[in-house]
Amino acid sequence: MPYSIGLIPGDGIGTEVIPEGVRVLEALAAWFGFDLQITDYPYSCAYYLEHGTMMPEAAFEALKQHDAILLGAVGDPRRVPDHVSLRGLLVPLRQRFDLYINLRPARPLPGLPTPLKGNPAFDIVFVRENSEGEYAGAGGRLRQGTPDEVALQTTVFTRKGVERAVRYAFDLAIKRQKRLANATKSNAMQYAFVMWDEVVAEVAREYPDVEVTRYHADALAAMLVRDPTRLDVVVASNLIGDLLTDLAGALQGSLGLPASANLNPERTYPSLFEPVHGSAPDIAGQGIANPIATYWAVGLMLEFLGEAAAARALMQAVEAVTAEGRVLTPDLGGTARTGEVTRAVLEKLEEV
Ligand code: NAI
Ligand code: MG
Repeated sequence: MPYSIGLIPGDGIGTEVIPEGVRVLEALAAWFGFDLQITDYPYSCAYYLEHGTMMPEAAFEALKQHDAILLGAVGDPRRVPDHVSLRGLLVPLRQRFDLYINLRPARPLPGLPTPLKGNPAFDIVFVRENSEGEYAGAGGRLRQGTPDEVALQTTVFTRKGVERAVRYAFDLAIKRQKRLANATKSNAMQYAFVMWDEVVAEVAREYPDVEVTRYHADALAAMLVRDPTRLDVVVASNLIGDLLTDLAGALQGSLGLPASANLNPERTYPSLFEPVHGSAPDIAGQGIANPIATYWAVGLMLEFLGEAAAARALMQAVEAVTAEGRVLTPDLGGTARTGEVTRAVLEKLEEV
């Protein structure tokens, strides 16, 4: 049975990096002997401007049939407000496909400088709750546009929702260094985060081998910058996880590197894999976007599909290219074009 993959290249550099990801994916399929069936979808801001919706209702049914979805980025901030593009595509996909885990590895790649002194070799995986919390969409605006306006945006934590995310993090921690950092703001938010901390403490009893440390999220952000090597697996809510993972992404050296997996661990729905970065309108159309984040997204996808050897080979090839430092895009201080990086990675793949 071929793996059925739905592609949503999206906007801007999304349309430039996704084809590169497909090139390495197809090469890996040939080498490792698996088949692919790839379907392209046009959902994007361009689609919105033509049809008045980021994605038609029927798209959910079509996308649901795939084993996995690979997304570039959506966003065209000069023509479509960002809350329209984000809440019209990525957020509904996360919610309708119950992609309740957002998994983000963060580690520097060999040979690439980081903004941290001494380039510490950190290796962290963030588990972000991805379906509720601060992004549940609950709230409203009263007396809109008047001086007395009030805007409410309510955090919604359900015990079930928190528990499944926390449990996933413990299961991951036990396979790694057995250290779990729990990032909340239960000092300032006495309902939602206090319940979250209680759930972590309860689940922790089932994992006596995992060392759990509770952090205030702001202190954890400071520690990320000061000494990221102390962290292994970090679990956090939707908003806090969003902030911490972008910070960790910046510590990797470029937004052109990190990728994330939006997972439905039960596999009732397809999981979605994406580079962390956006559509980068400032460099779109120039052919200089860094495709490494997309390769990394492909690697996460292959791992989830059960092609761990192919995923490992891909990351080894990428690391061989960065270690050599000859073929790098401008965000990493090089002069290579997007397609040249793919060629370099494909050459390394033949060696590994
Ligand atoms: P961005 O990630 O698109 O760009 C931030 C900076 O990083 C820019 O200077 C850009 O040139 C650089 N950059 C990003 N990816 C790069 C790559 N692969 N290679 C080289 N340089 C890269 O974030 P920004 O500018 O805040 O957002 C632009 C648009 O993207 C907005 O419409 C935003 O809503 C959308 N966006 C979409 C996301 C998604 O679809 N998941 C995620 C983040 C932003
Ligand atoms: Mg973000």
